Amino acid sequence: MEDIRETKQMNPDSEQPVGVFDSGVGGISVLRELYRVMPNENYLYFGDSKNAPYGTRPLEEIRKLTIANVEFLLEQGVKGIVVACNTATAAAVRILRGMYPQVPLVGIEPALKPAALQPGHPTVLVMATPMTIQQEKYKTLMMRYEEKADIIGLPCPGLMEFVETGNTDGPDLKRFLENLLSPYLREIDSIVLGCTHYPFVRGLIEELAGERVRIFDGGNGTAREMKRRLEAAGLCTRRTGQGTVTFENSLAAEEEIELSWNLFQKK
Ligand code: DGL
Repeated sequence: MEDIRETKQMNPDSEQPVGVFDSGVGGISVLRELYRVMPNENYLYFGDSKNAPYGTRPLEEIRKLTIANVEFLLEQGVKGIVVACNTATAAAVRILRGMYPQVPLVGIEPALKPAALQPGHPTVLVMATPMTIQQEKYKTLMMRYEEKADIIGLPCPGLMEFVETGNTDGPDLKRFLENLLSPYLREIDSIVLGCTHYPFVRGLIEELAGERVRIFDGGNGTAREMKRRLEAAGLCTRRTGQGTVTFENSLAAEEEIELSWNLFQKK
């Protein structure tokens, strides 16, 4: 098994799919951007909903789960990997780069830069999982922009669970978001969606925050970065037709795949 993986890593072929994973269905927000940016590629998406949420687990567990997800995707023959989970990126992307130096690998992180560089020293609220906000990687990112903006990290335990159960606009979710955000709404100029599940509840967040507050999400930047990496490695597909999307989920339940398609096609 080990040898097969080595071969796949050493000889990636441009017609293989791009692998994308998350702790659950949230990373589909990144997959949507990938498909927009590179519509000719094939994609294999793996959601580890069985082990979700990652964001409230101990660091070592998140690292183990993340490595297992990468191994799974490589075994399926992907040519590159997008870590479509801010938590897994914060916890393990450095380890992954060391383990798989030949694999084009991009991890999403909170889109703090464009939010903090808005004129007039803005106040920025970063919504993310507790684990993302605790990590060194996040603290380093925050320190880089602390002179440009006032940055508030807001851990949001419990929020991803709404999306995992397909609830993206119900009244209970609205109440949850109201409680979470109302202490900050008067002082903030922008919100960074620092977890890939949150773009699916963006509509409600916008409604609560009002037009004055700008919302930032790192999905599109991550997709464009993957495109650059594939181009640099000579791995973009030569296919001219639309690519395919395949969903796999560790819960192996029909409903998870259906939920995945619904989120992928959500307006
Ligand atoms: N979607 C993940 C992220 O971007 C985390 C959700 C979770 O598993 O806690 O951080």
